[in-house]
Amino acid sequence: MSEKLYIFDTTLRDGEQVPGCQLNTVEKIEVAKALEALGVDIIEAGFPVSSPGDFNSVVSISKAVTWPIICALTRANENDIKVAAEALQYAKHKRIHTGIGTSDYHIKYKFNSNREEILERAVAAVKCAKKYVEDVEFYAEDAGRTDNEYLARVIEAVVKAGATVVNIPDTTGYCLPEEFGRKIRFLKENVNGIDKAIIATHCHNDLGMATANTISGILNGARQAEVTINGIGERAGNTSLEEVTMIFKSHKDLNIDTNINTQKIYSTSRLVSSLMNMPVQPNKAIVGRNAFAHSSGIHQDGILKNRENYEIIDPQDVGIDENSIVLTARSGRAALKHRLHILGVELDKERLDKAYDDFLKLADRKKDLNDDDILMLVGKARSENARITLEYLQVTSGIGVRAVASVGLLIAGERFEAAASGNGPVDAAIKAVKQIIHRQMTIQEFLIQAITKGSDDMGKVHMAVSHEGLLYNGFSANTDIIAASVEAFIDAINKFVH
Ligand code: KIV
Ligand code: ZN
Repeated sequence: MSEKLYIFDTTLRDGEQVPGCQLNTVEKIEVAKALEALGVDIIEAGFPVSSPGDFNSVVSISKAVTWPIICALTRANENDIKVAAEALQYAKHKRIHTGIGTSDYHIKYKFNSNREEILERAVAAVKCAKKYVEDVEFYAEDAGRTDNEYLARVIEAVVKAGATVVNIPDTTGYCLPEEFGRKIRFLKENVNGIDKAIIATHCHNDLGMATANTISGILNGARQAEVTINGIGERAGNTSLEEVTMIFKSHKDLNIDTNINTQKIYSTSRLVSSLMNMPVQPNKAIVGRNAFAHSSGIHQDGILKNRENYEIIDPQDVGIDENSIVLTARSGRAALKHRLHILGVELDKERLDKAYDDFLKLADRKKDLNDDDILMLVGKARSENARITLEYLQVTSGIGVRAVASVGLLIAGERFEAAASGNGPVDAAIKAVKQIIHRQMTIQEFLIQAITKGSDDMGKVHMAVSHEGLLYNGFSANTDIIAASVEAFIDAINKFVH
């Protein structure tokens, strides 16, 4: 029988402390809801006393989220705890996370105090929090560098005072995995009453060992892992949720289960990365761009023969669409053929050879090739079976004259024509298209890229068009960038007209 590991997500507290990663309340609610859908057990929503913004975010997240426990951080003093309790008033399940530094560094240089006084303050904080909520988590800050005998005394005292969870943070990311595991085992074996509380790990990644330390702690008796999405957090970050989750999913023999719906990992990772403006390193385990990109021909061939030759995780298990994996200059012919097959294009040997030559030339110039590039290469476009197609386009533009465009569209085989003037040729042409297709639609993003270098180059256009609250992406490539822009607009429209 597997044992449950509680996943405590601190993306919105430890993660949000990172300079540049601050979110507004609306964005925090979006992340909190994504975390709820992902299946985390506890969301650390903020540090309410630190600012009115943090306080309001904890209030709003408490209202917006139903299932996970909402946790608020405090220092070991009455005012912090009182403010946290107030911020948590609307939470359906609530927890106060209070604590104090227990290493000799913190005791001496942060608090100018001594071990006995710190132990008393720890107990007083837990008793105070217990007046407001039943579920109280105590953190022994810098536990990684705290003497084990003293740590055991503190933990025993706070459990006796009512702590339901005891958090053993490696605040500075100093411990070695074996050392951290031994610390957890020491507490399991030497603290009276430890079975009344859950032991939590909270590891930082300063030496790149946050995940290893967390796993070691769990294998030695901890049952709550404190983690963040993409491993963001103070300095080098925290243990990442996706790594811990996928380690236990992959190593079934460890008999540890989480509640995480792993298929939502990738989308949650993208959401956090984009809202926090924090790119994910390409080779980041599980969620990095290259995590499943087998770029060498030998690996790709092996993967196509049997995925397990080179892959321990099925990308679909973490919500990555197989089709989104990029091809590069080192991809083999078999990989190109397979991708074309997925895209519904079958080529005979001769045409495949030609496509592969063109593919290599393009891949030399452009690092990652996506599905649109591949389709363009073999002379196909996604819009081939489209309901609306561009039959003709004529524009007049120049310096000192207003641009004018005439457009002919075929809609289900019937021709429609319109002309319009605009602020430049693209604007004029788009206005003409809008005269034919009377739908509420707004261009939200418009990106033009050259594929190679010369003036005879193909221009690639991506356009995101919003319609009735949803976003539709259009794509086209053409040596005429005005035509490419209009085609991309029509490609997006084809995705919502029926
Ligand atoms: O790293 C740490 O020690 C913390 C505590 C506040 C739990 O973030
Ligand atoms: Zn931390």
